[in-house]
Amino acid sequence: MAKKNELIQSVKGTRDLLPSETPLWQRVEEEARKVFEAYNFREIRTPVLEQTALFARSVGSDTDIVTKEMYTFEDRDSESLTLRPEATASVVRAYIEHGLYNQGGIQKLYYFGPMFRRERPQKGRYRQFYQIGAEVLGSEHPAIDAEVLEMLVLLLERLGLKEFKLLLNSVGCSKCRPEYLKTLRKALDEVKDRLCTDCRRRSHTNPLRVLDCKIEADQPIIEKLPTILEHLCPECRQHFDSVTLDLKQRRVDFEIVPRLVRGLDYYTRTTFEITSGLLGAQNALLGGGRYDGLSEMLGGPPAPGFGFAIGQDRLVLTLETTGTLKLAQPLAVYIAWLGDAAREPSLLLARQLRRQGIGVEISYHQIKLKKAMGAASKLQAPYTLIIGEDEVASGSYQVKNMQTGEQTSVSAGEIAGFLKEKLREPLQAGEDPAEQP
Ligand code: HAM
Repeated sequence: MAKKNELIQSVKGTRDLLPSETPLWQRVEEEARKVFEAYNFREIRTPVLEQTALFARSVGSDTDIVTKEMYTFEDRDSESLTLRPEATASVVRAYIEHGLYNQGGIQKLYYFGPMFRRERPQKGRYRQFYQIGAEVLGSEHPAIDAEVLEMLVLLLERLGLKEFKLLLNSVGCSKCRPEYLKTLRKALDEVKDRLCTDCRRRSHTNPLRVLDCKIEADQPIIEKLPTILEHLCPECRQHFDSVTLDLKQRRVDFEIVPRLVRGLDYYTRTTFEITSGLLGAQNALLGGGRYDGLSEMLGGPPAPGFGFAIGQDRLVLTLETTGTLKLAQPLAVYIAWLGDAAREPSLLLARQLRRQGIGVEISYHQIKLKKAMGAASKLQAPYTLIIGEDEVASGSYQVKNMQTGEQTSVSAGEIAGFLKEKLREPLQAGEDPAEQP
């Protein structure tokens, strides 16, 4: 515990997002909302705290997340609670708890929010991080997988991202995976002595994770191991072929990576990740897949599901490097008033503009013209209005463009319209009016 008077700092692996950073975070959220709603997704908000059993049962009791990374504590009434490490389990819990399956058809849900995993912090990896995710519940149709992937690619393109790759695999189902695992275990028995310590352990506890090993020396051995894609049952094979065909028809580029496995146990059939070369070691921008048995595992009715979660911290990091996104500047105009008689009309003008959603900063006390200009540039206000007694008398105001220095005389009643016209949102990065069907 910090001693008295000692500076208290944020917890390791957590961070403050300062006003210089939040516009990009907001922009990503706005764009995600727009794209998701265009695909008929609705927002769901679930609690950050859940019963520990929820994640043990869904994410899997042998996974790194559950064994090493969860923030779990005993509540005052001895109930074991966990700060959610991910939200798919929570969304499925809510779907069952509120009987959303009774509404008929499929549910398309999206969410934003913080997740908690006690990992070793480094660039792009935090203990409190943020996800933007979506889940479709109630159908195993392969067109859902393809539609969601199309939506994801559209979102990344809308954000101006170009360098990313969609990696695709199928991890089979409860019918074909056990058979494959037997084959994999047998193959691993023969080579495991030549693999790293982690892989030797995993070959017993969670053999699929061996495929995900990043140790250079292990790669030639792992490359020769049997892949699940070669062992899919006819139904899973057909599902995978339909997804890939559909993606081609939708003009969504992808790469099949038979070694792609995910760190959560609930996946069946399609799994995927989108990686970005701009991210370095933590290159997974997002991940997801299908989880057809999860609802039953949590005591619910059969409700096949498909979804993803974007690592928002990583997405923002990538967008900072590309820097193509135009961010809205909330402040439109700085108003400085000179002389007592100018104060009241200036306050009224500021109020009128703010009521119309125009961002205004107004000097609290009277300042000289030169100082007013300095204050306006410090605030990075695109426009400045200097209101003196003469302007009040004539009803005509000089609106100064701070970038070009150009001054325009505008009457009081027309200032709002003038500013709105000038500050209309610029064309967004990635927006392509001439998109081909
Ligand atoms: P996940 O792969 O564990 O999947 O996490 C998704 C994304 O969250 C990762 O690709 C990464 O960008 C980000 N992420 C994970 N851990 C951290 C961390 N410590 N710091 C920063 N970013 C991180 C899931 O969570 C599944 N619930 C996704 C899903 C939804 N599958 C189906 N539906």
